[in-house]
Amino acid sequence: MNTSKINNLLARRQPGYSLEQGFYTDPDLYQLDLEMIHYREWLFAIPACELEKPGSYVTHQVGAYGVVLVRGADNQIRAFHNSCRHRGSVLCTAKKGNNPKLVCPYHQWTYELDGSLLWARDMGPDFDPKHHGLKPVHCRELAGLVYICLAEDAPDFDSFADLAHPYLAAHDLGNAKVAHESTIIEKGNWKLVWENNRECYHCGGNHPALCRSFPDDPSVTGIGEGGETPAHLQVHFDRCQGAGLPSQFHLSTDGQYRLARMPLKAGAKSYTMDGKVAVNRWLGRVPFDDTGALMKFHYPTTWNHFLPDHALVFRVTPISPTETEVCTKWLVHKDAVEGRDYDLQRLTEVWTATNEEDRRVVEDNQQGINSPAYGPGPYSALQESGVIQFSDWYCETLAARLAPQTQAAE
Ligand code: FES
Ligand SMILES: [Fe+2]
Repeated sequence: MNTSKINNLLARRQPGYSLEQGFYTDPDLYQLDLEMIHYREWLFAIPACELEKPGSYVTHQVGAYGVVLVRGADNQIRAFHNSCRHRGSVLCTAKKGNNPKLVCPYHQWTYELDGSLLWARDMGPDFDPKHHGLKPVHCRELAGLVYICLAEDAPDFDSFADLAHPYLAAHDLGNAKVAHESTIIEKGNWKLVWENNRECYHCGGNHPALCRSFPDDPSVTGIGEGGETPAHLQVHFDRCQGAGLPSQFHLSTDGQYRLARMPLKAGAKSYTMDGKVAVNRWLGRVPFDDTGALMKFHYPTTWNHFLPDHALVFRVTPISPTETEVCTKWLVHKDAVEGRDYDLQRLTEVWTATNEEDRRVVEDNQQGINSPAYGPGPYSALQESGVIQFSDWYCETLAARLAPQTQAAE
């Protein structure tokens, strides 16, 4: 990796402007993003409810790493590298399933759900199964959301978890089920997916369905001019907090995550075409129907919306320099019955359309950036404060992690 090339790009970056072409296209920079960010940070993987019972597993690919998340006999969720300790075969080849044990398809080495090796045929008297358990991946469950970290030494998770837990508790994700999921590949760099997510400058021109309920208010998506909380939002936070719902805007000092319970458009309760709730059997315990959406983002993998009646979790996974997987899950109460408590089409139509519209604008953005004529352009400080915040977090994180390598190379 040529760190001086990257350092030069970072050094000549103009804050408040989109990044240079290389950040969105260069395979070296993509690899650096994986190594410096995705392989080091806590990454949202799945909602815990997806692993319904002991033996339920889900696989997830992050760059070169295959991971399997599995619920153990003790109900605990663990994550392992999805690579057999015999000769390395992929252990779980399906996207998801349920098995009493994890059995390698190659020579049938058999692992317990806690990763310990239970059985390996004809390995001789000196073979010690204890030394051949699955390699663990750091795994934490936070109020029904499962995060993993691929790093050898994981960064602190507790500060985020301690802050987020009270906000999430009222949404009772432990009693959720996945009503619907969609996985799309957007032909754009993962940072373009984020940049697009962090502003609603594009909403009026692109999201007719979402705009029925989502407010045309840059302070909802962004961080407010100068970072202060506008008075109308404070009124909403205070009202929700008075009813026992943590709601206050909170952006972490390092800029990696934010939580805030934001109002929707006047009269709107949920992301539906008519603005009314989509599910009669609510997921969670919010005390009234106009609490809006608890919005949470945590770079580099997830943004979420927790509504009075249901929740939406999004997962962003880079696939290549110009391709990103966006996986969306619609969570409802586990006892909500489709056709009785909710209509699936009504529940999902706004964000299905919004995701498709976002895919198109991200792909158009990437196409234009691919041109030699592209150069960084100015963000709107009013409308795109969230994008500026994301870009700053990304560049500062990358620069801080490159610094030790640059010193070592000198
Ligand atoms: S590679 Fe898994 S049992 Fe041989
Ligand atoms: Fe959008």
